[in-house]
Amino acid sequence: MTGFSAIALLLGCSPSESQVSAKPYPDMNSEGFRALSMNCAECHALPYPDAHTASEWPAVIAKMQSNRMQRGIGPIPASEMKLLHQYLRTHAAQEAM
Ligand code: HEC
Repeated sequence: MTGFSAIALLLGCSPSESQVSAKPYPDMNSEGFRALSMNCAECHALPYPDAHTASEWPAVIAKMQSNRMQRGIGPIPASEMKLLHQYLRTHAAQEAM
C-alpha cells in the first residue's frame, strides 16, 4: 500500500513531454525577441538563445547571414542585427569553463 503511493508521487513529479516542448523564449516582449522572430524563423524553427554561448553566437549569426544570401533573402538590416546580437548575448547559454 505505502509502496504504491510512493510510485504515484514520483510519476506525478516528472515533467510531461508537452511541457518540455512548450519552453518559452526569454523576454518575449522585447525588441530583441522581435528581431529574432523576424529574421530567424524563415528556414527553421525559431532557435532558442541558449543554443549557444555568447562567444559562439556571432559566428552562428554570420553563417545565417550567408545562408540568407544564398537563399536570395536580403541580409538582416544593421539596426535589427544590433538588437539580435544583444538579445542572444543576454540570454545565451553559460560559457564552458
Ligand atoms: C536563409 C535561411 C536561414 C535563416 C534566415 C536562418 N537560418 Fe539558421 N540555419 C539555416 C540552415 C540551412 C541551417 C543548417 C546548416 C547550417 O548550420 O548552416 C541552420 C542552422 C541553425 C542553427 C543550428 C546550427 C548551429 O550552428 O547551432 C542555429 C542555432 C541557427 N540556425 C540559428 C539561426 C539564427 C539565430 C538566425 C537568425 C539570425 C537564423 N538561424 C536564420 C538556415 C537559416
